[in-house]
Amino acid sequence: MPTPTPADKFTFGLWTVNYNGTDPFGGPTRPSMDVVHVVEKLAEIGAYGMTFHDDDLFAFGSTDAERQGQIDRLKGALADTGLKIPMVTTNLFSAPVFKDGGFTSNDRAVRRFAIRKVLRQIDLGAELGAETFVMWGGREGAEYDSAKDIRQALERYREAVNFLGDYVVSKGYNLRFAIEPKPNEPRGDILLPTVGHALAFIDSLERPELVGLNPEVGHEQMAGLNFAAGIAQALYHGKLFHIDLNGQRGIKYDQDLVFGHGDLHNAFALVDLLENGGPNGGQAYEGPRHFDYKPSRTEDESGVWDSAKANIQTYLLLKERAKAFRADPEVQAALEAARVVELAQPTFGEGETYDAFVADRSAYEDFDPSAYLGGKGFGFVRLQQLATEHLLGAR
Ligand code: GCO
Ligand code: MN
Ligand code: MN
Ligand code: MN
Repeated sequence: MPTPTPADKFTFGLWTVNYNGTDPFGGPTRPSMDVVHVVEKLAEIGAYGMTFHDDDLFAFGSTDAERQGQIDRLKGALADTGLKIPMVTTNLFSAPVFKDGGFTSNDRAVRRFAIRKVLRQIDLGAELGAETFVMWGGREGAEYDSAKDIRQALERYREAVNFLGDYVVSKGYNLRFAIEPKPNEPRGDILLPTVGHALAFIDSLERPELVGLNPEVGHEQMAGLNFAAGIAQALYHGKLFHIDLNGQRGIKYDQDLVFGHGDLHNAFALVDLLENGGPNGGQAYEGPRHFDYKPSRTEDESGVWDSAKANIQTYLLLKERAKAFRADPEVQAALEAARVVELAQPTFGEGETYDAFVADRSAYEDFDPSAYLGGKGFGFVRLQQLATEHLLGAR
């Protein structure tokens, strides 16, 4: 089995391994673990860092002294293990006050409280060296169409993110924001439900350069979308600031399975894209490989750490398989036959004018579309089978 190194930048949310098994139908099946123990175990399994919501470290409603006590204990564990905090985020979804959301609650006082809560966590993130601040708006949404004026809600969302951008710039923090889309759960419908919706929203901001995406595998798949393709578009727009890796089996409730324990073909395509999809075949994404999953409530603590290691192992195995796939001469020939590289060729010649294009008889008058009936195919299925054989370790 491959061994992780800090250069792999594997990170875990404190809330992931510390998930106690609560679901809408049952309470905890595991006791919650102390943060110092979690940091030590994560370091032991080869993680590079940990991430957390404010409420994961100090319970909602903690006094300043209780909050500081937990921060100091975390700092001690980080100093002892060398673990980093590359990302932090705010919980604007668990406490009753956020039942109608944070930034977009119909209740203005709640919106002002939510932004103050975020400012406190931004300050803490900057102090701990985090470079990314994730915004997952799980409660920003509605169950009923007449309950939420969506255009006004988006305007309040924009107002909040613009304000936070001004804040980090004026404080001189080295922190960028990453919006995490999700179509539903816990709200019936969540604002900014997919990568595409969030990209359009980011474009409307006052400081779009400060804001990117934190897409999660399962969230796009809950919307029936192709995650690797969504990530490719996020990279294309320079907006892949962070990523949440996990597994999901089809359009249903958010499963947060181990990475690869859902659509394995798409996970293979994703790792191939992240690791080999750069302009010269190098890494297309250099940020943390962040696992946001939930160890199933059937597991005990040893099962929790097995599941954490499973995320890392699956990623590293897929990375090996993707490398072998790219290096295989048969794959290279199949890519050539499928004319995958031809797509990099611009459709127009350099400086080709409208007149020159229309005068080109080969583009229309002399072009024979009927030759495509029964003509040469692309061989995409063979290419996919080669990928499958590499994925299965048969090559
Ligand atoms: C989800 C989300 C949450 C996290 C978010 C960060 O599964 O719906 O990922 O688990 O809170 O990623 O805030
Ligand atoms: Mn999820
Ligand atoms: Mn997530
Ligand atoms: Mn999650």
